[in-house]
Amino acid sequence: MKIDLKALKIEAENKVKKAKDLAELDGIYKEYLGRKGELSLILGSIKKLSKKEKARIGKESNELKAFLESKIKRKRHVLKEHIGILEKEEWIDITIPGKKPMVGHLHPLTKTKREIMAIFQAMGFEVVEGPESEIEWYNFDALNIPKDHPARDAWDTLWLKTKAEKLLLRTHTSPVQARYMEKNNPPLKIIVPGKVFRHEATNASHEMQFYQVEGLMVDKEITVTHFKAIISEFFKRFFKKDLDFRLKPDYFPFTEPSFDISITCLTCGGKGCPVCKNTGWLELAGAGMVHPNVFKACKLNPREWQGWAFGFGWDRLTMMKYKINDIRLFNSGDLRFLYQF
Ligand code: FA5
Repeated sequence: MKIDLKALKIEAENKVKKAKDLAELDGIYKEYLGRKGELSLILGSIKKLSKKEKARIGKESNELKAFLESKIKRKRHVLKEHIGILEKEEWIDITIPGKKPMVGHLHPLTKTKREIMAIFQAMGFEVVEGPESEIEWYNFDALNIPKDHPARDAWDTLWLKTKAEKLLLRTHTSPVQARYMEKNNPPLKIIVPGKVFRHEATNASHEMQFYQVEGLMVDKEITVTHFKAIISEFFKRFFKKDLDFRLKPDYFPFTEPSFDISITCLTCGGKGCPVCKNTGWLELAGAGMVHPNVFKACKLNPREWQGWAFGFGWDRLTMMKYKINDIRLFNSGDLRFLYQF
């Protein structure tokens, strides 16, 4: 019998090294050191060898046996440790309370927008939209704001760098009045909710980017009385109570007469705070009877048609409804603020 212990050692050692789990390692043990294992058989056959060979092969086989046993023992330890780590990693503790998923909800401004739309739609108004990047004609000219009128500066316009046409970010939702009247014949009742932009310093009641909702009603015999009735009904439904409001003379080139709509500041209850600049009153909208020149710009006969228009800041409506003391919170992305709604 030819015994090559060197080759056996290399082969067995390689197999131990590559063993991936305990079962494989047990198989290797059996293959070499088990009762019928290769090395065990060699050890069992030593007695048949010559005296000289017996001493040499016997010594080498026993050394190899001890070597393989220690290699397998060490590998078993390594594999067990690895299994321990895996078990730890994959450990599922079903008694730990689950993590609540973060459930989103509508932004308060979106809620207000939907409420406003629902209220006016119930009163027969159609919801119309217009572009946020606007041309000068609709933002100013069609609204009776002449080229050199200081109102153009007063709007603090943000101009867009466009080559073909001079575009601006609309400073109010009023341009949609003209866009709509150009294409639709009265009688008409619309509201226009949308985002507007002004290059101005911010404070508790002023943002650079805010929301307005335009209202426009045109018919044969429309007066300020209709306007007051609609606004009073809107406030009643929006604030869910009768609310006194104040119409104060104001100036807009596209309405005549013009006024602003203010209410007692609900954030401070009229005592005075940064939102109402300590006046106790907060202006919520500009409004008035549609100026004849706006009808003319839209190819409508001002002798035939009359109407009123308003532009509410709906950020401010939301502030009053929820007693929010700073308009800048809306765009702050602060979840502590948003989760209150
Ligand atoms: C206008 O924008 C007119 N287009 C309103 C109008 C429409 C008048 C139709 C007549 C007929 P004014 O600049 O006042 O008007 O803005 C209207 C409302 O928008 C204000 O009452 C206020 O509620 C809101 N608002 C104005 N500026 C800001 C601002 N910087 N941040 C937040 N809200 C604002």
